[in-house]
Amino acid sequence: MTVTLDRNVEAFIGSPRQLFINGQWVNAASGKTFETPNPATGETLARVAEGDAEDINRAVRAARAAFDSGPWSRMTPSERGRIVWKIGDLILEHVDELAQLESLDNGKPFLVAQAADVPLAADLFHYMAGWATKIEGNTIDISVPYMPGANFHSYTLREPIGVVGQIIPWNFPLLMAAWKLGPALTTGCTVVLKPAEQTPLTALRLAELIAEAGVPDGVVNVVPGFGETAGAALASNDDVDKVAFTGSTEVGKLIVQAAAGNLKKLTLELGGKSPNIVFDDAESSAVEGAANAIFFNHGQCCVAGSRLFVHESRYDEVVDGVAEIAKSIKLGSGLDPATQMGPLVSDEQFRRVTGFLESGRADGATALAGGGRFGDRGYFVEPTVLTNTRPDMKVVREEIFGPVVVAESFSSLDEIAAQANDTTYGLGAGIWTRDISKAHALAKKIRAGTIWINCYNVFDASLPFGGYKQSGWGREMGHEVLNNYTEVKAVTTLL
Ligand code: NAI
Ligand code: MG
Repeated sequence: MTVTLDRNVEAFIGSPRQLFINGQWVNAASGKTFETPNPATGETLARVAEGDAEDINRAVRAARAAFDSGPWSRMTPSERGRIVWKIGDLILEHVDELAQLESLDNGKPFLVAQAADVPLAADLFHYMAGWATKIEGNTIDISVPYMPGANFHSYTLREPIGVVGQIIPWNFPLLMAAWKLGPALTTGCTVVLKPAEQTPLTALRLAELIAEAGVPDGVVNVVPGFGETAGAALASNDDVDKVAFTGSTEVGKLIVQAAAGNLKKLTLELGGKSPNIVFDDAESSAVEGAANAIFFNHGQCCVAGSRLFVHESRYDEVVDGVAEIAKSIKLGSGLDPATQMGPLVSDEQFRRVTGFLESGRADGATALAGGGRFGDRGYFVEPTVLTNTRPDMKVVREEIFGPVVVAESFSSLDEIAAQANDTTYGLGAGIWTRDISKAHALAKKIRAGTIWINCYNVFDASLPFGGYKQSGWGREMGHEVLNNYTEVKAVTTLL
């Protein structure tokens, strides 16, 4: 069974999609297009104009002009805030359509996109809209010891950072576009957004809604294309004031190098290998919680609870329980309402994840559940629980970004803090216990940007999100993100 496709979705994928530059839908300068496949079948879903350096540079010029001299910079914060709010409203008016498009392009279950991705994207715009009128500087009483007797009036201005390049991944295509665009718009920046080549469709549909909401031409430009061409051109463009990137740590390091030319500001939201820790006194719901922590979005979450640590007294019960859940998960097309897990996003990702499974097997790990491909078409991988691992194995150290968890045991709080931190990443962590002091003591010891206690994958527009160590620079969401989209200017007057 599959849901009936919304008419707008049929029309959207039925003809080639163009680039959105300066408020116009245009072909790539090269005339090239690329296909975005349906990962449930491997067949072509839609064709999309392929932006490259020339298109990116054109989009940056449009964003520069819109920032320097467009109506956007003359709007009041209240006017800006109302437009950002309207984007949230328009997303909510198109929930089913956007969820279907996301499911087709990314593979995730339509019902999950409908319940989580799309409403969260709307909520981000609604949350950010309120900040437009609340961005403030300070007045500061200064002393200046070498000017005795002088009086001053000093204050700070918080100003938009300028033209922002935003490069996003394919795991939550619409939501990542929202996380990036919301704070940029509310602070008065202008944007060139490059969606992931695997999943360009919802960002392009969002661009239509953004125009409908009243965002002036050139303020938001959306240029799909490949990383090495379009992405690299955006990261190295000297007219871009800041780049916000979400993706692999490997590419994050390339972005740092590309940004060096004009020392543009950077925020990076990178990979993870997050520990999920179940104590001896945890509620039995920790079993389901641990399964959800890794299997949500097919494990394609930067914050996936991919290292499961269980107290030795509960190890068999919890790990067997997660394996049972893994075996019961129903895989299928994202458009089938019975589907609990869809395909991985792409053939490349499928090969990556199955490559990790082979490496785990070769290193001596045991698959308690799963361990290989599911079916014979599309990019499906079985939910997998690996045991008998050692800390030096590739499957334990590296981000797999698929439905694969490694399970280990621990015996004490001090030991588990060290084990949890034994990673180059620091994005998230889960703690399951009824002892709330123990939970907070451990939360303090773990070097990661997000800690969940007796829950996992709880996201909210008002909570800052980002990484310690090689998981990134800066924070997204919450009011923390506004600091990354504004510059502070100190103004002093001699009275
Ligand atoms: P990626 O990091 O290559 O791609 C993410 C974005 O960066 C895409 O829009 C891509 O076009 C762009 N990009 C790629 N190379 C670029 C370059 N040289 N300059 C500028 N932009 C560039 O991620 P990929 O290859 O899709 O996935 C590989 C692995 O990365 C995954 O298996 C996973 O481990 C990790 N990843 C982590 C994500 C996260 O949310 N932290 C999201 C996606 C991937
Ligand atoms: Mg890549």
